[in-house]
Amino acid sequence: MSFPLQRPRRLRRTEKLRSLVREHRLSAAGFIYPMFVCPGSKVRNEIASMPGVHQQSAGQIVEECREVESLGISGVILFGLPESKDPRGRSSLAKDGVVQRAIEGIKNAKLDLLVVTDVCLCEYTDHGHCGVIEHGEVLNDETLEILSEQALSHARAGADMVAPSDMMDGRVGALREKLDENKFENVPIMAYSAKYCSGFYGPFREAAQSAPQFGDRRSYQMDPANSNEALKEVELDLEEGADIVMVKPALAYLDIIRRVREAVEVPVAAYNVSGEYSMVKAAAAKGWIDEKRIAMEILTGIQRAGAEIILTYHAKDAARWLKE
Ligand code: PBG
Repeated sequence: MSFPLQRPRRLRRTEKLRSLVREHRLSAAGFIYPMFVCPGSKVRNEIASMPGVHQQSAGQIVEECREVESLGISGVILFGLPESKDPRGRSSLAKDGVVQRAIEGIKNAKLDLLVVTDVCLCEYTDHGHCGVIEHGEVLNDETLEILSEQALSHARAGADMVAPSDMMDGRVGALREKLDENKFENVPIMAYSAKYCSGFYGPFREAAQSAPQFGDRRSYQMDPANSNEALKEVELDLEEGADIVMVKPALAYLDIIRRVREAVEVPVAAYNVSGEYSMVKAAAAKGWIDEKRIAMEILTGIQRAGAEIILTYHAKDAARWLKE
């Protein structure tokens, strides 16, 4: 049966009809908003390449979290900019570290918000790599212990979920074991499972002051040319106990999101990363694109690809637009 009996335009005629047959609906409940915590008090510096996103001290983070909560966004993910950096990222373990203090602040404010933490070393090491270095190489197994201690320290401070982004082999298992040994068996792990070595992290590295001081991250993050390997990474993370798996970045990897969604039965998250956000902001500032339209179309595309959770710097704006 086809034209003139079939007229797909019949269901596109009015907004009521379009809304009735819409296959995907964005919701702020599926968003996680990334935030950058720095030392000090009353600090709030906008990140030049990420308009609307700030480096903030713990108190300011709590204030913005009130707004995030009021918009119906489910959670925030915290990144730390520590006071001091060393070769092993020790400042990431401090009880009064930047992230730990922010978690406590948000928890004390009794906000109805999931506090997720990014577990990694690159923001805390002086060399900017996501693991411990020896003879110019990023060591895998030696890094696992520090990462697990970091996750434990976040859980002790009150984190609701931890998200390892380092891409060391075996880190999900190591974190799960450490958390369980310490009675945090109910803290879920959202694994950055298929994390690609991407140019789209550029603005984040400015925001988090975490650019590698030598070399690059190709020996641990994934090659953008690979797709089957993403499924292998996801499978390993699930075997090791991941509760949620993530694909990152999102836009150049929509096919990966779709393949992962079809391969697993756990929730799938996608990280709409800094470079993806900055491009929209920059083009919108020049008047070349309609920011709201483009951002919503991007988020819809990520959801349609298969992600039910989206980590995005657009979260607050998108939540507001969804209420309009
Ligand atoms: C830390 C980490 C990075 C991002 C999230 N966690 C940077 C990197 O791997 O270099 C990127 C997030 C973004 O670009 O928005 N390992």
